[in-house]
Amino acid sequence: MKKIFVTRKLLKENEEKLKELFDVKLNPDDKIYSAAEIIEGSKNFDGILSSVTDPINSETISKLSSSIKIIANGAVGFGNINIKAAREKGITVTNTPDVLTDATADIQILLLLGASRKAYEGRIAAETQSWKWSWDFLLGKQMSNKRLGILGMGRIGRAVAKRAKAFGMEIHYHNRSKLSSDLEDGAIYHKTIKDLFEQSEFLSLNCPATPETTKIVNKETLSYLKKNTVIGNAARGDIVDDDAMVEAIKNGTVFAYGLDVYNGEPKIHPEYLKLKNIFLLPHLGSATKRTRWDMAYRATKNLQDFFSGKKPQDQVN
Ligand code: DGY
Repeated sequence: MKKIFVTRKLLKENEEKLKELFDVKLNPDDKIYSAAEIIEGSKNFDGILSSVTDPINSETISKLSSSIKIIANGAVGFGNINIKAAREKGITVTNTPDVLTDATADIQILLLLGASRKAYEGRIAAETQSWKWSWDFLLGKQMSNKRLGILGMGRIGRAVAKRAKAFGMEIHYHNRSKLSSDLEDGAIYHKTIKDLFEQSEFLSLNCPATPETTKIVNKETLSYLKKNTVIGNAARGDIVDDDAMVEAIKNGTVFAYGLDVYNGEPKIHPEYLKLKNIFLLPHLGSATKRTRWDMAYRATKNLQDFFSGKKPQDQVN
């Protein structure tokens, strides 16, 4: 039996399945391991089933036991793993696309709505009983009939577009390349971020974290926006320059910002915690039982395929 080091505690059913197939080392206390603990703990194992919280950068990879042949990341994003360093060391990396598309797109809509309709302030007012209905109480911005810009029109971006259409939104997008008209499904392509940002009244950040997208939302790109834009980020904290975002919120370029992901999670930029027009969630994009089960199942399937000599369907390097 192949030996698999599982970095985080999974749902019980997923752990049972893994135990049937592999000799597994589980993490019943769900401790978040440091790089050193991953290196030490996975010595002489054949594979790792990792999670978004694991820092598997090039230095970690260089120190991993040479017995490790695959890292099956239980997430669609794999910015936590240096896939180039892994490839150079002969380690296959896989992710779990598709299965979390709907759950994450749902959260993105929640972020846009929560931010634009002042859900955070509303909750505080309700909780502290410090409110009364009045004509101008906590007036937000309506999503209906607005232009939604989507940065990153992959699976999740397209699922957000589908939902946003039900709100009567007009969909605009920027992507590395224009999609086929089938996939575009009526969305309007912008060749540059500048064009997209200039058009957007709401903005949905959906691009993966890569060296190219790090801080792609920054002082310059934020300056392309109109006043009072609403932004939602269910992708990754790394794609936003937080200081520039705080400034854009304070100067009124951004009406409200909803976010589920952070630079250096679980830390949160202290200014975000002070601003009222911020709607925060603690990385819940894929947090439904069905989706988490599917993600771990898909990572398990990738391990199974790999060790039976097949190319795993979700290999990313
Ligand atoms: C992913 O799969 O990348 C999600 O962020 C995990 O919740």
